[in-house]
Amino acid sequence: MININENFLNLQDSYLFSTIAKKVAEFQKNNPDKRIIKLGIGDVTRPIAPKIIEAMHKAVEEMGKQETFRGYGPEQGYEFLREKISENDYKKRGVNIDIDEIFVSDGAKCDCGNIGDIFGIDNVVAITDPVYPVYLDTNVMAGRSGEYNEKTGMYENIIYIPATAENNFVPEFPKKVPDMIYLCFPNNPTGTTLNKKDLKKWVDYAKQNKSIILFDSAYEAFISEEDVPHTIYEIEGAKDVAIEFRSFSKTAGFTGIRCAYTVVPKNLKGYTKDGKEIELNALWNRRHGTKFNGVSYPVQRAAEAVYSEEGQKQIKENIEYYMNNAKIIKEGLQEAGYTVYGGINAPYIWLKVPEGLTSWEFFDKLLNKANVVGTPGVGFGPSGEGYFRLTAFGTKENTMEAIRRIKKEL
Ligand code: MLT
Repeated sequence: MININENFLNLQDSYLFSTIAKKVAEFQKNNPDKRIIKLGIGDVTRPIAPKIIEAMHKAVEEMGKQETFRGYGPEQGYEFLREKISENDYKKRGVNIDIDEIFVSDGAKCDCGNIGDIFGIDNVVAITDPVYPVYLDTNVMAGRSGEYNEKTGMYENIIYIPATAENNFVPEFPKKVPDMIYLCFPNNPTGTTLNKKDLKKWVDYAKQNKSIILFDSAYEAFISEEDVPHTIYEIEGAKDVAIEFRSFSKTAGFTGIRCAYTVVPKNLKGYTKDGKEIELNALWNRRHGTKFNGVSYPVQRAAEAVYSEEGQKQIKENIEYYMNNAKIIKEGLQEAGYTVYGGINAPYIWLKVPEGLTSWEFFDKLLNKANVVGTPGVGFGPSGEGYFRLTAFGTKENTMEAIRRIKKEL
């Protein structure tokens, strides 16, 4: 008889964005004449920049010729891409990251989930609340969460660190010291950021407690303010305590192409039960090489083109386009009397739902009255109750129309 991993039975409902997709499909089925505007899942709408497409085409052609054909590439990613990453994303910001500290993959979501493979099951996990659901759900699957408490909406062994309007979205140190600390800045879902001083406090805290920070910086390309770190390694000491996840999905519109990378500095250590130090880079390298066969050659050439002069110019135009949407949403909602956060260094707007409504009730109202889809804050954790997320990744026309409808219908 085959046994299952019973931790899966401990998961709540389905993955947030699947639940929303199901609800929207149901609404559309019952209302075929309504034109729904989707500002729910953070999926991009701008086409891939021409310079990137050109590089991808060229790579595809190479694959069709005997002299330039390539089979398996290095699991960690081609050097041509890792060198560009090291040079552009790190050296230009005054940070030294060797190419063998960079692991190219098919997505930050996968990496954020898979990283748990190299950590013991007994580690105490801390997440900020609200949070991107992948950090929590993958730890539930792994068996680190303990039981779910229906009343609190929390798992017994997970430390939830509120990052809410009350503390200005700056997470405070929890009472119990965690071993694995997930931080995502610019933040999904609230769109808020930590400045260098506040992030430094977390780096020092992790160092003092021999904890690890799992830093998701998938939205760094949207930062517009000066004092906001683009990489955690801008903070002194971070190479001793942090793994960083980066993605081309939002930066260059790769949600359908799939390419990301994870940085595991060689300084980073974990410990055996008897206190022996082990290099985390070696463990992740082993894990990556065993379970992953590398991102396809044309996709890595496409990612390389992101760093070309023209590529940079073209992706920046797309980023500006999305951030203009963020402005339209933010200002439009403020005019309509909503309290809103985010939208300045991130493509997400976090709004307070009107008094007396839960975030799912607001979701239903928005869908039914304005035919606009967003994401209920509580789907990101108990501290998200009473809030709602809209993404700036739609088209400008749809974004303007959504705001018009919200103003008129709600
Ligand atoms: C989101 O909507 O939060 C993102 O699309 C999630 C993701 O990038 O996987």
